[in-house]
Amino acid sequence: MQPSLQNTMSMDVESFERLSSFVTRDYGIKLPSTKKSMLESRLNKKVRALGLNSYKEFLDYIFSDEGKQGELYHVVDLITTNKTDFFREADHFHFLSKEFLGKYKTETGRNNIKIWSAGCSSGEEPYTIVMAMEEYKKNNLDTTYSLLASDVSTRVIQTAFLGIYDIDKIDPVPLDLKRNYFLRSKSNPKLVRVKPQYRKKVQFKRINFMDNHYGVSKAEYDIIFCRNVLIYFDKPTQERVINKFCSHLKPGGLLFLGHSESIIGMNVPLRQIRPTVYRYEE
Ligand SMILES: C[S@@+](CC[C@H](N)C(=O)[O-])C[C@H]1O[C@@H](n2cnc3c(N)ncnc32)[C@H](O)[C@@H]1O
Repeated sequence: MQPSLQNTMSMDVESFERLSSFVTRDYGIKLPSTKKSMLESRLNKKVRALGLNSYKEFLDYIFSDEGKQGELYHVVDLITTNKTDFFREADHFHFLSKEFLGKYKTETGRNNIKIWSAGCSSGEEPYTIVMAMEEYKKNNLDTTYSLLASDVSTRVIQTAFLGIYDIDKIDPVPLDLKRNYFLRSKSNPKLVRVKPQYRKKVQFKRINFMDNHYGVSKAEYDIIFCRNVLIYFDKPTQERVINKFCSHLKPGGLLFLGHSESIIGMNVPLRQIRPTVYRYEE
């Protein structure tokens, strides 16, 4: 432990290696040594709040029987990068509602659409999907849908479940959709909340992609969004997780990845139909 002028505690190499091996093994997230100062800045407050004087003490505590019951969960909340936005990579939602769903119904007869937002962070992605689906339904009255949203971090799932956001957060949402899908807080004009009937459309669940079983049925989903999550994993882990997603997709179903992610060089049963949009083909 060497407190600096700013009172930040520095992490010794051994503790960093112990923590990064744990995070990679249990959560898939790569933590090269360049991430050390990022980790220190995220964990410092927690170490001090626990009244501990070094990262070694902190790691001994979180990996103890007592730590495993509680604090270890909060560590993943601090380590994950949860950056997200409403209508992030908006062409995906346009493609979904303006091109894919109509064709999918014609080809497969399916109009009860099951969607999974995998790695949903604080909810902006699943609520964007709700808006896209509700708008689609206006001209396609026979379509129904259900939406599962999952993340490994319980902190972001709680935020997503509440559906309360700073008003600036909904800047990317078109004006008519803002009016239809959000309520302004009466007590704090800087906050908005997703209307209850749309919050109810989403079922939230904690799922860690490194687990053997995700607790969801095989061949259950028509569409899986897993965007800007796999970039934190190494290639073999990405390939393993994508193959697992495929086992949960119906034939002909879609996987959306983030714009900087790809399946190049992977042995996965997917065909690219758009940049970062893939169709599951058995
Ligand atoms: C950058 S956010 C992406 C959010 C959203 N999909 C988007 O594109 O805006 C990545 C999310 O992946 C989650 N995540 C990281 N590792 C995970 C794992 N092993 N299992 C499930 N979710 C994970 C993080 O907690 C975080 O909320």
